Amino acid sequence: MSQQSKIKDLIDLRVKAKLGGGEKRIESQHGKGKLTARERIELLLDERSFEEFDMFVTHRSHDFGLENESYLGDGVVTGYGTIDGRLVYVYSQDFTVFGGSLSETFARKICKVMDQAMKTGAPVIGLNDSGGARIQEGVQSLAGYAEIFQRNIMASGVVPQISAIFGPCAGGAVYSPALTDFIMMSKENSYMFVTGPKVVKTVTNEVVTDAELGGAMVHASKSGVTHFVADTEEEGIMLIRKLLSFIPQNNLEEPPLVACIDPIDRLEDALNEIVPDNPNKPYDVKDVIHAVVDHNEFMEVHRHYAPNLVVGFARFNGASVGIVANQPKYLAGVLDINASRKGARFVRFCDCFNIPIVTLVDVPGFLPGTAQEYGGIIIHGAKFLFAYGEATVPKVTVTLRKSYGGAHDVMSCKQLRGDINYAWPTAEIAVMGASGATEVLFGRQVKSMENPDEKAKFIAEKEQEYTDKFANPYVAAKFGFIDDVIEPRNTRFRVIRALQALATKKDTNPPKKHSNIPL
Ligand code: HXC
Repeated sequence: MSQQSKIKDLIDLRVKAKLGGGEKRIESQHGKGKLTARERIELLLDERSFEEFDMFVTHRSHDFGLENESYLGDGVVTGYGTIDGRLVYVYSQDFTVFGGSLSETFARKICKVMDQAMKTGAPVIGLNDSGGARIQEGVQSLAGYAEIFQRNIMASGVVPQISAIFGPCAGGAVYSPALTDFIMMSKENSYMFVTGPKVVKTVTNEVVTDAELGGAMVHASKSGVTHFVADTEEEGIMLIRKLLSFIPQNNLEEPPLVACIDPIDRLEDALNEIVPDNPNKPYDVKDVIHAVVDHNEFMEVHRHYAPNLVVGFARFNGASVGIVANQPKYLAGVLDINASRKGARFVRFCDCFNIPIVTLVDVPGFLPGTAQEYGGIIIHGAKFLFAYGEATVPKVTVTLRKSYGGAHDVMSCKQLRGDINYAWPTAEIAVMGASGATEVLFGRQVKSMENPDEKAKFIAEKEQEYTDKFANPYVAAKFGFIDDVIEPRNTRFRVIRALQALATKKDTNPPKKHSNIPL
């Protein structure tokens, strides 16, 4: 055989491999409004940067007729490429080949890119669209999943791992995405659940659809499993590219610095008027975030989950930060179970990957009630507190308004190694609000009063006395718990100066196998 015909064979094999399960199944994939595994990779990576591995891998099963049916690549496209010139490893499940189901060889291909990503210190992006374990292979696929899980765990906190869900993701297959740092789901066609509607019907008699049980919006707003939802696959893929722009390649690197033409001393006069005089009136903390960060750009994470806490990425003078902010617009910005879980997870991600944390505080306390106590708010609140206290990245805190009780401690206070803590003049840093304090301190006296006017006057006086004395930032500032009281419109500049000063910060935790965060 001549060299020319050998080269032609290679080219023919490549063409064949690129067709995956064949044109008919590609058409069917498109018919469902879905892209193919290769089209997704093309969109995700910089143009012509993809280098594929293992295109010629096929399965080794001889059961259930599989000996007569095999496809080059075996249902997953793997390799590496770049995003904005930075190396990433990628795998993309090909639904046109046995429904993207996972075989032994399929798992090996994924493990290979994960191993290389760990060696080179680069992120791993998994694009999921799969019917789960390849039924014909049985236990081989279970072992394959576990091989992937183990690598997810070892890579956690070393290289960023991002999962996109563009189709089915069911059974134990959900656990690889769940072990990664971020999940993105497309609104149409994607769903995740441990047990599907049929099993649910048999066991609990509930009747639910795929979307009701595990669709993108369900996981975005109810379970918190997904961090992002995209209207289309294209939008989701762009979102992943953007997300990576805030994150370093690995835990030993700093996040990328981008050019910033937004003046660092830009004054935002509107912030001097944003906090209503009435402490019970809300405002939107996202207006504060947009006003202070570079070019008003904020990439929100977990937007639909626990909206009483806002978390996400932004930049100050071109440098990435993670922002954590109470949202007075929802439940008055109170901390509850979901907000605590959301906050803890985000703080820990930032700390893993050397991203400083800027915390904006306006928190009236923890949400009271049996639902919260029975659900373990003690443990979940502790988790958030633990995450802040354990984090060694630079931490800058700005108290905008309320900072009461235990929630004050949680929200990156000085004693949880908050590095620079500022407060606006509107801040109220105290153990509790005026009416609660009056009730506790003067309850007996109030009860003994018979004249209702006298009672009301007494309560109002005491509340006013408490407010005058404690509902301000100066008591905390007197003790040095607040480093300075700053003018709201100058917040951007003060935060940037603080982050600049903290850029060389070094802090460590005592040597240990690992901590025992309340889970
Ligand atoms: C082998 C599979 C497959 C699987 C789908 N296919 N799932 N082949 N193993 N798990 C094949 C189909 O035979 C079909 O082949 C093609 O993929 C497309 O499937 P359709 O059913 O035609 O597609 P659709 O109607 O879109 O339905 C998709 C689906 C459904 C919802 C994913 O196929 C399905 O329910 N599959 C089985 C899911 C499942 O039970 N998986 C195992 C779960 S246990 P042809 O040749 O017709 O194109 C598990 C354990 C993991 O995953 C544990 C990890 C720890």
